[in-house]
Amino acid sequence: MSDVKKIAVIGLGYVGLPLAVHLARHYSVIGLDIDSTRVDELKTGQDRTNEIDPEVLNASTLDITDQISAIEDADVFIVTVPTPVDSKNEPDLAAVRGASKLVGGILKKGAIVVYESTVYPGVTEDVAGPELEAASGLVCGTDFFLGYSPERINPGDKEHTVDKITKVVAGQNDEVTKTLSEIYGCLTSGGIFVARDIRTAEAAKVIENAQRDINIAFINEVTTIFQKMDLSVYDVLEAAGTKWNFLKFAPGLVGGHCIGVDPFYLAHSATTLGLHPEIILAGRRINDGMGKYVADCIADELAKKGTGSGAKILVLGLTFKENVPDLRNSRVIDIVRELESRGFLVDVHDAFADAAEADSIFEVALMPSLDGEGSYDCVVGAVPHQPYVEFDVARFKSLLNKNGLVADIKGMWRSLELPAHIGRWQL
Ligand SMILES: NC(=O)c1ccc[n+]([C@@H]2O[C@H](COP(=O)([O-])OP(=O)(O)OC[C@H]3O[C@@H](n4cnc5c(N)ncnc54)[C@H](O)[C@@H]3O)[C@@H](O)[C@H]2O)c1
Repeated sequence: MSDVKKIAVIGLGYVGLPLAVHLARHYSVIGLDIDSTRVDELKTGQDRTNEIDPEVLNASTLDITDQISAIEDADVFIVTVPTPVDSKNEPDLAAVRGASKLVGGILKKGAIVVYESTVYPGVTEDVAGPELEAASGLVCGTDFFLGYSPERINPGDKEHTVDKITKVVAGQNDEVTKTLSEIYGCLTSGGIFVARDIRTAEAAKVIENAQRDINIAFINEVTTIFQKMDLSVYDVLEAAGTKWNFLKFAPGLVGGHCIGVDPFYLAHSATTLGLHPEIILAGRRINDGMGKYVADCIADELAKKGTGSGAKILVLGLTFKENVPDLRNSRVIDIVRELESRGFLVDVHDAFADAAEADSIFEVALMPSLDGEGSYDCVVGAVPHQPYVEFDVARFKSLLNKNGLVADIKGMWRSLELPAHIGRWQL
C-alpha cells in the first residue's frame, strides 16, 4: 500500500463533490473551493447541484474549506475545476492555471497532483506542470508528480455514479500510476483502466464527448431531412434501432459543460498542429444551429395557424438536460431569443433551475409557477423534466387557447392523444 495520508480535492462542483464524498469513505479527505458561498452551503449539507443528498453530506467525514492553508498537509491533490471555452470557442484554462498556482503555493516534495478536468492532450504536462513548478519552485517529475484521471459522470444520472464507473488513470511514472490505481480502486467497483500515459488518458476523455456530439449531430441532420419528408425521426429511429449495430441517439439541443464544449478542445489541438478538423466542427455547427432551426419550425407552424408576432409562447425547461438544475451552456436560450426576435412574447418556466441563476446567466425571469397560467398560443416542451413529461390533456387545455400548438422538441408527449383543435409539432 502506498503511504497516502490525506487527499485534497480542489473544486467542489458536479465532479469534485461526489468524488470527495466517496473518497472520504476510504481516506482522510479535504475539499477546497474558492467559492465561499458554495463552501458555506456545503457545510450546512446543501448541495445545489443535487448530486449529494443532505443526509449523506452531513454524515460524511469530508472536511470542506475555502482556505488554502487547510490543505497544506495533503499529499495527493485532485483538481476538478471547470474547463469552459471563451467567446471564440477556444479553451479557457484560467481555472486550471488558477488551481495549479494555488496548489503550487503549498506543494511539498513527494506530492502527487492529479487532474480530472476535461482538457486537450498535453494540458496536464505542458500547462499545469509548469504552473505548479513556477508557484512551488519544485521540479516536476523529481520533486512532485503529475497524474490524470478523466471524469465520466453525467449530471442527474443516478446509475453511472463515480463509485460504479470504470476509471481511467495515468501517472507520470509507474509508482504514481500504482498509487492512483490504488486510490481510485477503493472508490469504484467499476474497475481501473491504466492508460498508456497522461496524454492518452486526456485524449480518451475528449473523444468520448466529441463522439457523442458528432453522433447527435448526425441524428439532428437527418431529422431536418425527415421533417421535409413528413417523416417522424422517432418512428424512423425506432425501426432502424432494431438492427444490432445501430447506434441509439436522439435529436435535440446539445448544451451543458461537456458535450457542447469538449469538441472545441480537440479542435484546438488539431488547429495548433496545422490540421482542420472537419467532422468535429461540422458536428458543433449542426448542433449549435438546432435552436434556430426549432424556432423557425415553430414560427412556421404558428403561421399556418394564422398566428404571428405578438403571440404568447410558453417554453418549458431552460436547463441543458432533464431533471437537473444545471443551466450552464444550455441551448434552450437560443430558441427563446430566436422566438423573441420574431416578435413572440415568450415566458419560460423550469421545474428545477434556480431563478436567480437563470437571471444572472441568461437574463431570463423564470415564472415562479405555472398555476393559473393559460391562453398561450404555443407550449414548447424544451426539456423533458419529469413534471412536464407527466402533463396530460387537461394540463394542455388549461395552458393553451383554443387554437394552440404543442411543440415537442424531445418527443416527450409523443404518445399523448391531443384533441383535434390543439396542433402538434415535433422535432
Ligand atoms: N459536470 C459533469 O458532469 C462533468 C463530467 C465529466 C467531466 N467534467 C469535467 O470536470 C471539470 C469540472 O466540472 P464541474 O461540472 O464539476 O464544474 P463545476 O463548475 O460544477 O465545479 C467546479 C468548481 O470549481 C471551483 N473552482 C473554480 N476555480 C477554482 C480554483 N482555482 N480553486 C478551487 N476551486 C475552484 C468552482 O467554484 C466550482 O465550485 C470540467 O473540466 C468538466 O469538463 C464534468
